[in-house]
Amino acid sequence: MTGLQTAAQAMLAATARLRAAGVDDPARDARLLLAHAARIEASRVTLIAPEELQPEIAERYDQLISLRAIRVPVSHLLGEREFYGRKFWVSRDVLDPRPETETLIEAALSAPFDHVLDLGVGSGCILITLLAERTSASGVGVDLSEAACLQASANAVEHHVEGRVDIVRSNWFENIDGQFDLIVSNPPYVSVEEMADLSPEVKEHEPRMALTDEGDGLGAYRRIAASAPDFLLPGGRILVEIGPTQAKKVGALFDAAGLVDVRVIPDLDGRDRVVGAKMPG
Ligand SMILES: C[S@@+](CC[C@H](N)C(=O)[O-])C[C@H]1O[C@@H](n2cnc3c(N)ncnc32)[C@H](O)[C@@H]1O
Repeated sequence: MTGLQTAAQAMLAATARLRAAGVDDPARDARLLLAHAARIEASRVTLIAPEELQPEIAERYDQLISLRAIRVPVSHLLGEREFYGRKFWVSRDVLDPRPETETLIEAALSAPFDHVLDLGVGSGCILITLLAERTSASGVGVDLSEAACLQASANAVEHHVEGRVDIVRSNWFENIDGQFDLIVSNPPYVSVEEMADLSPEVKEHEPRMALTDEGDGLGAYRRIAASAPDFLLPGGRILVEIGPTQAKKVGALFDAAGLVDVRVIPDLDGRDRVVGAKMPG
């Protein structure tokens, strides 16, 4: 056959196109998307590099690269994202699970828990990971977004924890009953002024209500800190992800709510990432 590009040629052209569009790591994305178009594992791309791309694969690849060039996140094109070693279904309805959120997971797993509440469950990556790692625990995940609740439910089934989880549509604690020995949350914490500085992938393709409180970035923490003592068992823990400049202010909110043992945990880059506190026991 003539006129067909090899996989390697198609990847080179795609890389150049993505670079021109301002994509951060164009070669990596070109490779991942080729694997997706060809329906193979990314680790096998090198093996097919010398082969000619079949027209239907070339067409699929071209569509994926066109979308990536307008800065649609790779995870949305693949439909999945890895978090703490598991694959989560993602879409434009939920925040993409971020590697820095694994800091919160490590902190939560460092002590026992039986019943966990996740405020702003999104894809479900935090709650479902915790339940998958602690097979006797149960949990409740809440989100104001109906679409996020559906996505979290699908991921709960995917990871076989659906029998131990309730997903509830709720404005923070509004529709929640009961008490928990662990509350976790990665709430929207970008201030409305900071929204302009986000990359197009985030600003234009992730749900705005997952990113910002439309205020100073601390609105969700105020709501969560004020009500957490009513939902925590004596000695129960709360762990929230924060933006790197928010530790002091979030810690002060927990203090003011009567929580004790307030501490700040850094992420792998050394930036403040999680604030934890306890209900007096
Ligand atoms: C930063 S995302 C976190 C998603 C997920 N937990 C994660 O870590 O990837 C924040 C989540 O809070 C939800 N949210 C925003 N406002 C809320 C509210 N008033 N009540 C409940 N959930 C809310 C958003 O829909 C979004 O899913």
